[in-house]
Amino acid sequence: MPRVLVRAFALTLATLSVLAPALSGPAQAQTQAQADHALAWKTGREAEAIERRVEELLARMTLDEKIGQLNLTGRGDGFDPQWVATGRSGAVMNFIDPKEIRQLQDLVQTSRLKIPLIIGLDAIHGFATYFPQPIGQAATFDVRLIELAAYWTARETRAAGVNWTFAPMVDLTRDPRWGRVFEGAGEDVYLASVVAAARVRGYHHGGLATSVKHFVGYGEAEAGRDYNSVWIPVSKLLDRHVPAFQAAIRAGAFTAMTSLSAMNGLPATADRTLLTGLLKGRLGFRGFVVSDFASIEELIHHGVAADGAEAARKALIAGVDMDMFSGLFIRHLADEVRAERVPVAAIDEAVRRILRVKFHMGLFEAPPVDPAATAGQIITPPAQAAALEVAREAMVLLKNDGDILPIRPEIRSIAVVGALGMSDDDWQYGDNVGLPRIRRPTVQAELARQLGPNVRITADPAVTTICGTEFTDREATLKMAREADLIVAVLGEECEFMGESASRTRLDLPGVQGRLLDELVATGKPVVLVLKTARPLVLTDIAARVPAIIQSFHLGSQGRVAIGEVLTGRVNPSGKLPMSMPRSVGQIPVYYDHLPTGRPYRRGERYESSFVDERNDPLFPFGFGLSYTRFSLDQLALDSARVPLDGTISGSVRLSNLGARDGREVVQVYMRQRVASRSRPVRQLQAFEKVTVGAGANQTVRFSVPVEALAFHDDQGRRHLEPGLYDIFVGTDSRAELTATVTVMGR
Ligand code: BGC
Repeated sequence: MPRVLVRAFALTLATLSVLAPALSGPAQAQTQAQADHALAWKTGREAEAIERRVEELLARMTLDEKIGQLNLTGRGDGFDPQWVATGRSGAVMNFIDPKEIRQLQDLVQTSRLKIPLIIGLDAIHGFATYFPQPIGQAATFDVRLIELAAYWTARETRAAGVNWTFAPMVDLTRDPRWGRVFEGAGEDVYLASVVAAARVRGYHHGGLATSVKHFVGYGEAEAGRDYNSVWIPVSKLLDRHVPAFQAAIRAGAFTAMTSLSAMNGLPATADRTLLTGLLKGRLGFRGFVVSDFASIEELIHHGVAADGAEAARKALIAGVDMDMFSGLFIRHLADEVRAERVPVAAIDEAVRRILRVKFHMGLFEAPPVDPAATAGQIITPPAQAAALEVAREAMVLLKNDGDILPIRPEIRSIAVVGALGMSDDDWQYGDNVGLPRIRRPTVQAELARQLGPNVRITADPAVTTICGTEFTDREATLKMAREADLIVAVLGEECEFMGESASRTRLDLPGVQGRLLDELVATGKPVVLVLKTARPLVLTDIAARVPAIIQSFHLGSQGRVAIGEVLTGRVNPSGKLPMSMPRSVGQIPVYYDHLPTGRPYRRGERYESSFVDERNDPLFPFGFGLSYTRFSLDQLALDSARVPLDGTISGSVRLSNLGARDGREVVQVYMRQRVASRSRPVRQLQAFEKVTVGAGANQTVRFSVPVEALAFHDDQGRRHLEPGLYDIFVGTDSRAELTATVTVMGR
């Protein structure tokens, strides 16, 4: 029976459906979640009852107790548990030991009002079991898996007593120089929105409240330098940066975090138009807004506040409800109220939002954490299985000349080179030191296990540290490489090369790894490069010389098992790039949904919008990724060539697997308004679906996109949806070449 999947995704509400067999959807995560603390905003009578309880509680609170609820403190400098006992800290962060958390929860019971703590942590891509980094999760283009990763992350985090996470980060990222691109879903608005909603659902099913961040525009830091200024006109803000936040809010995000940066000259933490006007007003966000780490204090460095009191006042009036770690709310707000510079109604509104979240999370009824039960709930077999499943799909095969992958039966010896394939302790962002560790197999051990005793595997880290700064014994490494039939080089970025404040100007392999790769290629032996990076690098020279490249973002606890499976062919790779990979740093930002310009690049002539020393297109485009089989698309057909403004553009396309292996392919539907009142992007992703097709088989994939998803904004913030001709492009990456045209009719 054909089954039509209908999903509502944020601003763009685009859907794409498949004729049987349909994907199983997030059902698995839902069933599992019924057993535990699934979170959701309550509705109807329950929501009304909560509002009454909030007001009753608020009426009983002293000014100091109210301000205490706005104060987020935590492990680190000078934390005093008595703040919790005396109601001076309504929220804490960075605790991962359930015994410590239990002590804090018990202390709350000694406070006058016994208002439960909200307990936060950056559970970005795992707690004890790690999943691929968020950018790698996005590369799966598989909504079910993305939701599953968040679900298991939440289950483990919640088992330790933590009930709130500072995720998902939904900042759009178009500049790989920025070290935080790995925390997001890449460059595309629609993909980012789908991923944002899936991650919120997954975290909430697993019992962890979300904080969608960083509102807003943080990913556009000038030159990719972290915390740098951003300049974003209203039209771009609403069309590109806001949709993923809106998707997260519609999916039920409980809280939102401000950005550390200043947008258009005003730090986000002091921007009332952004926080109160846009987020709480236009987007209808009911939860609370937390500042980013010390971002209230940083208003002084930004030069918009003379001192702590002014910073606290400005942030609260702008719409920040909770102060993360600067301590300025608790230090100054009571005096500000007494001096009548801050109305008590503004404090009440912030407290109301925080209490509302605590009630909707069920914290007043929840039992405290049982530290004895935590160990049995982390690193469980289902969490490990989920981590493996996601890692398998997160790898992007960029190149496979001569089909050297999967490893051929005639290969009798393999040299695995590179510390990133063999360090015991795969570095994870926000690693929770002190938790039980999972011993991760090395890539060579996995290859040996999967290929059996007939293939000789040798291995050498080649570089002294995992940052690749120095050779261990260059000659020995090269000798080992020369003696093998195939070289598998596992290289990339770790340590200080990724994460917050890890911006780069050169997007090459750090340290001596570039030289190492050159020398491996010079041996004349075939080289397979497995890249473990947190961002797209510039691979132009490498791709010209290395026949096979797998882009894996850091894949988490089961990553090396998954790498082994892809190399040996047990798993057919199916990941797709969520960010374009530039040819050179000078091209950045390079992204597929740019505007056409008055002089589009067409014939490569002078006086077109182009470079004299570089092509315009990326080395590998958004949405790109190869498979061990070959897919083709044809028979694109629209249900109707004329659609009303309130209608839906729908149609179908045939996906054929022309090879001898089963595989998964992502069918991508892009659209463009041909002539509009403003210049519109050359194409934008509006729907996608990942489909499994057996060897030699084909499948009809249906898609549908509500016309309203094609709306855009002007710089006054007005929304436009215009009749006219729309081009449709369907393909397996953003260069999609199958085309059709639809006429959207006016009213
Ligand atoms: C980061 C946030 C993070 C917070 C708490 C900040 O520096 O920008 O994304 O959630 O620290 O760790």
